[in-house]
Amino acid sequence: MKNVDVLLGLQWGDEGKGKVVDVLSSDYDLIARFQGGPNAGHTLEFDHQRFVLNTVPSGIFFNNTMNLIGNGVVIDPVTLVKELEMLKAAGHNLLAKGNLMISRKAHLILPTHLLLDAASEQKLGENKIGSTLKGIGPVYMDKTARNGLRIGDITSQDFKERYQNLVAKHTAILSTYGEVADFSEREKAFFTALEVLKQFPLVDAEHLVNDYLKQGKKVLAEGAQGTLLDIDFGSYPFVTSSNTTTAGACTGLGVAPNKIREVIGIFKAYCTRVGGGPFPTELADETGEHIRQTGKEFGAVSGRPRRTGWIDLPALKYAIMLNGVTQLVMTKADVLSGLAKIYVCTHYNYQGQLIDFMPYDICTEKPEPVLKEVDGWNEDITAVTGKLQIPAKLQTYIHLLETELGVPIKYLSVGPDRKQTLDLS
Ligand code: GTP
Repeated sequence: MKNVDVLLGLQWGDEGKGKVVDVLSSDYDLIARFQGGPNAGHTLEFDHQRFVLNTVPSGIFFNNTMNLIGNGVVIDPVTLVKELEMLKAAGHNLLAKGNLMISRKAHLILPTHLLLDAASEQKLGENKIGSTLKGIGPVYMDKTARNGLRIGDITSQDFKERYQNLVAKHTAILSTYGEVADFSEREKAFFTALEVLKQFPLVDAEHLVNDYLKQGKKVLAEGAQGTLLDIDFGSYPFVTSSNTTTAGACTGLGVAPNKIREVIGIFKAYCTRVGGGPFPTELADETGEHIRQTGKEFGAVSGRPRRTGWIDLPALKYAIMLNGVTQLVMTKADVLSGLAKIYVCTHYNYQGQLIDFMPYDICTEKPEPVLKEVDGWNEDITAVTGKLQIPAKLQTYIHLLETELGVPIKYLSVGPDRKQTLDLS
């Protein structure tokens, strides 16, 4: 059955995917993360509580929804167990609830992957990627180099030996960067965490997901990071190490493309980016600072200030094309309230030409954004609950975006809380 919906970010991440997955979760039988690792920070707010989820899917707060960490995800056992403990302390004991499963094929982040990440960024100096330093790049390198360890391996007899072999490889590389930092504490925590994770169902997730589909159950694939950080299509090399696009849901869960129904693309009413790399509509001025402060644009994982800028239609059109987006969700429209004028980047001026796509060498030559001025809205929209209460100027903004992008905006998010979500359909 064609019953997989994919939900992903269309910009550089932090679009509010966690919140929207949580809002939609009760409509699904299974919520499955398909790529990335604890470099994600999905923030959910409801009933005056706030949770940041790094590895656990955002559907865990609903009783009738199963959650899966897919094979495309990379797991740091230490951070995952901390996350599970945080949830347990808040009254959500996932082991007791039995609502979390893990694909046996998901790769493990070793303590030495974290060291490699830090060493590699340090070596890049001014040209650093802006890594979250969670070991994500190095673990995906081991995966593609066919050296990696998967969580399904932890029960095998030779696991310790294979672990030691991989660590020996890592320490040899690390010694070329300089002295190898002591990681014995982290290693101890790693093995303790594995014992905890052994208690969760480690499953052949591709079969599980397809069995769900055969039974007519509905699956939501939850993306992390954003399309413009995709390893193939993002602003390389300032990208993440996985496919953040719809195709990543197929490889990261083991579902065939013809099982995908809706592709829900999330974007902010403006743009942000954390870390290095090109950002054509960036605002390095007071307006940018205003958006950063009002939108609380500081990394959920790293706490770093996010760069801010106007909405970028060439980038969004590219993301919609790559993902086959069928529905849009616009978040954080409330952050723009009070700005007299808002700007929409419709094209780029690039090498003397007007273009509406992302050029290949965006990293070496900055495209100049062509901006269209639109009226802002003054009203506070955080308490808006119905379509008819949306200020006229925000309606005009929505209409402009829908016309330019050719896809309807189905949901409008007007605040971080679960309840601050409007269905526009
Ligand atoms: P990544 O995978 O790390 O990219 O995460 P994400 O897409 O889930 O986004 P993240 O939680 O990092 O950032 C979104 C932030 O915006 C969170 O703090 C949310 O609580 C908040 N948020 C989500 N929707 C809205 C909204 O409509 N308005 C406002 N003001 N905040 C929102």
